[in-house]
Amino acid sequence: MPNHILVANWKMNTSSREAELLADVARRTAVPGVESVLCPPFVWLDRVKTIVEGSGVRVGAQNLHWEGKGAYTGEISGPQLRELCEYVIVGHSERRTLFGESDAIVAKKLHAAAAYGLIPILCVGESVEARQAGKTEQVIGRQVLNAVAHFGGERLLIAYEPIWAIGSGTPATPAQAQAAAKLILSCLGTLPGNTDLRVLYGGSVSPTSLAGFVEQPDIDGALVGGASLHTEQYTQMVRIAATITA
Ligand code: PGA
Repeated sequence: MPNHILVANWKMNTSSREAELLADVARRTAVPGVESVLCPPFVWLDRVKTIVEGSGVRVGAQNLHWEGKGAYTGEISGPQLRELCEYVIVGHSERRTLFGESDAIVAKKLHAAAAYGLIPILCVGESVEARQAGKTEQVIGRQVLNAVAHFGGERLLIAYEPIWAIGSGTPATPAQAQAAAKLILSCLGTLPGNTDLRVLYGGSVSPTSLAGFVEQPDIDGALVGGASLHTEQYTQMVRIAATITA
């Protein structure tokens, strides 16, 4: 299994041409020691998949509906995604805060992702208010335990993404991220079966900050937004992830 995982969350960015360019760079940068996952907008999944095919680079979606099919205008299901990609981000804080996704919805989506054969990348993280009120552990613990209530998959990636660090240019410190990762692992000590659980850090990760996170004992990689849209920064991060063996 590769040492480190690098998930690129493109959010609602990229034209078709930009998506092709980024996918091509990822294909050419792929190294065996790094599990690189590109999460483009739904509309580019197919072409990104085609470009990276055979390179070892994986593809993921940014969201899914919890039902397999039906009258849900504008939504995309797990079985549809499974034809195009292997991973799916679930419960990103932008989904929770801008689109009203509750812990209950996140739990249904996490369950659906696993049920339809996708590897979920569950996002959890506290607001600045929660951190200032000393409620960081409480929020993370609640989000994690509620999300995995019905989870039965073989593999689960959990990204600790403090809301205050996302897109702010100021990441958490490696010590803060490590503390959260440790908490997540201890919360899930009781996951049924042999789920392969890995914790990532996300929130303003850049080539400058990446090493500090992946060197932490309980952090196996990063979920990167803004910096993953810049080919030079993306390439640098893959190289950095490949050189750290912790
Ligand atoms: P950022 O986004 O790297 O731009 O902070 C991370 C994320 O929201 O997943």
